[in-house]
Amino acid sequence: MSKAGPPKSHPLFVRITHWINALAMILMIGSGWRIYNASPLFDFTFPREITLGGWLGGALQWHFAAMWLLVINGLVYLIYGLVTGHLRASLLPLSPRTVWADTVAALRLKLDHTTGRYNAVQKLLYLGVLALGVLVVLSGLAVWKPVQLWWLAALMGGYEGARLVHFFCMSGIVAFVIVHLALVFLVPATFLPMITGRAPAPKTNEANE
Ligand code: HEM
Repeated sequence: MSKAGPPKSHPLFVRITHWINALAMILMIGSGWRIYNASPLFDFTFPREITLGGWLGGALQWHFAAMWLLVINGLVYLIYGLVTGHLRASLLPLSPRTVWADTVAALRLKLDHTTGRYNAVQKLLYLGVLALGVLVVLSGLAVWKPVQLWWLAALMGGYEGARLVHFFCMSGIVAFVIVHLALVFLVPATFLPMITGRAPAPKTNEANE
């Protein structure tokens, strides 16, 4: 469970890269769905209204433009996060025991929230989506340049394998975003600090007990 202590706000670099990432993800996923529709892997396509780009050529241009935003922004977040110690301090340590304890506490509505300090379930979700983010970029590179990056494609079982990895990473990221938004909706006090960087006055979970 989260330790008590003075509330910390989100550092500026986290807030800036978080919102640039949210924009880049919307552009990548919307255009990716349009590209998928041109040659579906499975027995379904995405409704045209929720895709971006209008046609295959337009969607590819959006996808490749937003790719730079996603990759450069992601590298800034990871490098800055490693150098400043933010990643280690915010997302570690993590153990199955704390994930279990915080899941049980959350289901009993007894999990408190302190701005800038994540519980074990959040840590697991954030580390998971960061790993998916790295894998979605690597599989995207393998699908984009399967001849030059043949070794990368080979690691994923070839071109078709890399397409599947890319699709399942996208699905995992979309599932994360749905859960992430549901949690922000359930605890709306988390939203403003991610913009302003100012933490609200500390609260306990006594009201829930
Ligand atoms: C527009 C939709 C989004 C909203 C409203 C939103 C909101 C938030 C909020 C309020 C927090 C802080 C949570 C807390 O203090 O407990 C947060 C953190 C985080 N969000 Fe989002 N988010 C969005 C989209 C995304 C997307 C698309 C991703 C990745 C695919 C993402 C990944 C993360 C990560 C990794 C953190 C932790 C960042 C850190 O401290 O280093 N978010 N988000």
